[in-house]
Amino acid sequence: MAGFVTFALRKATLEDRSALERLIAESARGLSRTDYTAAQVEAALGSAFGVDTELIHDGTYFVAEADSGIVGCGGWSRRATLFGSDAQPGRRSELLDPGHDSARIRAFFVHPDWARRGIGRAILEKCESEAKEHGFRSAELLATLPGERFYRALGYSGSERVEHRLRDGVPIEFVPMKKDLA
Ligand SMILES: CC(C)(COP(=O)(O)OP(=O)(O)OC[C@H]1O[C@@H](n2cnc3c(N)ncnc32)[C@H](O)[C@@H]1OP(=O)(O)O)[C@@H](O)C(=O)NCCC(=O)NCCS
Repeated sequence: MAGFVTFALRKATLEDRSALERLIAESARGLSRTDYTAAQVEAALGSAFGVDTELIHDGTYFVAEADSGIVGCGGWSRRATLFGSDAQPGRRSELLDPGHDSARIRAFFVHPDWARRGIGRAILEKCESEAKEHGFRSAELLATLPGERFYRALGYSGSERVEHRLRDGVPIEFVPMKKDLA
């Protein structure tokens, strides 16, 4: 339930990387339990789930900071990579064309103690607004199963599950989703 919370958004910096890796692990382990097995989460950490340094360099990755430190993160991208950390195979750094392509929404993770307090929503609104300022008319992403409920509530559609293979062949399901930003 939403309550009174104090957090501020700012752009992520390279100095945040280790704090972000910790947050992402805590978020995925704490908030994915009803959707994924522990083996799936552990296989995803460091590949499908993790920091994409390119977004930090681009200035399109945000952190939500509270008195206790970083409690949420997420970003958008004008590059083709759809998901995953620096270590994810198949990355594509080429720039998208806002006239034809959808901006990417990337790597949202909120600390379990701070879930359902509007942090994800605040970061997503910031990302969509910046993507629109850059001329993008739509946004797309590859949602986790916990993420699917969040993105659907915020206007994204798509429900077909796709199977992705993590390291050691561990399978995991994701959901491609899209939203018209007009
Ligand atoms: C997905 C995630 C980022 C959402 O962050 P959050 O800060 O908790 O989301 P918000 O509080 O802004 O939620 C906004 C709305 O989304 C919906 N929503 C969010 N989480 C939900 C859930 N678990 N179940 C159902 N609806 C949910 C609700 O409508 C919510 O509004 P409400 O709380 O007023 O009902 C967070 O759950 C998370 O980090 N999950 C684990 C990591 C992950 O899978 N990330 C997605 C990567 S694609």
